[in-house]
Amino acid sequence: MTTSTASAPARSDDRVRIAVLASGTGSNFRNLVECSRAGGLAGGEVVCLVSDRPDCGAARWADDQGIASWRATHKSLGGRDAWEAQAVGYLREQRIDLIVLAGYMRVVGAALLLPWEGRMINIHPSLLPAFPGLHAPAQALAAGVSETGVTVHFVDSGMDTGPILAQRSVPVFPSDSLTTLTARIHEVEHALLPSVVGQLCARYQHSVNESI
Ligand code: GAR
Repeated sequence: MTTSTASAPARSDDRVRIAVLASGTGSNFRNLVECSRAGGLAGGEVVCLVSDRPDCGAARWADDQGIASWRATHKSLGGRDAWEAQAVGYLREQRIDLIVLAGYMRVVGAALLLPWEGRMINIHPSLLPAFPGLHAPAQALAAGVSETGVTVHFVDSGMDTGPILAQRSVPVFPSDSLTTLTARIHEVEHALLPSVVGQLCARYQHSVNESI
């Protein structure tokens, strides 16, 4: 397990404190941090990263940037329930108001979901309910559709099933490879996710002092 608190910011009570959960490259995490630093999240502030892959791109970038993080594999802590219990402890210490799953490739269990239900969102690279689960851009290519997209939704106990907050379509061209389609989807994600997070932060501003 790796915990880095070097740059954990002091609480300023008018800020909505955001944690990002990520398992991979972290382009959405990085984009959200950059929007946060530019003041583009309507009072929201990305304060930490939580990851189930301690050495993933998102985690390495957090280290480079001095962003607080908590990372451990599920296996190292004895499975999902134990991992989530410790993650919840860290997220409570960080006084997190809003959790953003940005390429977090796990179904969230009750231990992690219940304390933040209604304050936990996920970005998914398809127009849900189409192509849930893993490898959504590859699923779209295999299905031969001419349009796919991006969805941001509240997390519930299902896999990519929670109430939808926003969707944007993305064209699929006959010439597309997985690389070109994924790049087009990421471009849309990098606009849509900060926009939805900003709207939620504006909505939550009045209640950030309530304890979760
Ligand atoms: C993003 O496309 C995100 O929508 C997807 O993983 C990618 C992570 O990219 N999430 C899922 O498929 C969740 N089911 P990133 O690491 O570059 O942000």
